[in-house]
Amino acid sequence: MLNELIEKRYSPYSFSDSQIEKETIYKLFDAARFSPSSYNEQPWRFIVASKANEETYNNILKSLVDANRDRAKQASVLILTIAQNEFSKNGKKNYHAEYDLGQAVAYLTLKATELDIYVHQMAGFSREKAVDLFNIPEGFTPITVMALGYINENDEDKIKQRKELSEIVFEKSFNK
Ligand SMILES: Cc1cc2nc3c(=O)[nH]c(=O)nc-3n(C[C@H](O)[C@H](O)[C@H](O)COP(=O)(O)O)c2cc1C
Repeated sequence: MLNELIEKRYSPYSFSDSQIEKETIYKLFDAARFSPSSYNEQPWRFIVASKANEETYNNILKSLVDANRDRAKQASVLILTIAQNEFSKNGKKNYHAEYDLGQAVAYLTLKATELDIYVHQMAGFSREKAVDLFNIPEGFTPITVMALGYINENDEDKIKQRKELSEIVFEKSFNK
């Protein structure tokens, strides 16, 4: 047994019509907030829209590639994730900003899983469109869009293949 939440989580292709309450959405961001980050920079930013916030929701949808848009439009909540490229203290490049953002998203995702909310992350979107639509300033890069919702009971829980441990963990040198 891995861990209940890790085993439960997967990226669904369909969502139910139930909407996620605002307080619940903010619980998810609170989990992200407590994620570790290089120099505690917390280089993550999020633009969030529930379906009721039509303008922002539709703008996030617009930034997605067609295949992702078709599925994401069922989601109760869409989130655009953004990384701050430089440290605010000294303006130096933060090489771990995207790593930190990803980790914050992992925290958010596990908290969501605990609350029976499923997350589908997507790289298939236009960064340029996102920058334009949301006035994202220099020094910040949109990284992913996430679709969140409660599960549609008919969704096929597709278990994805995983690499073997021996393919990813080495004890001597790379690949050995
Ligand atoms: C950074 C990132 C980008 C992804 N981009 C897409 C995407 O554009 N479209 C899509 O359908 N799934 C996307 N996925 C979902 C992955 O395909 C999925 O996580 C992977 O196949 C493993 O499946 P699982 O999450 O159900 O375990 C993305 C996942 C991550 C973490």
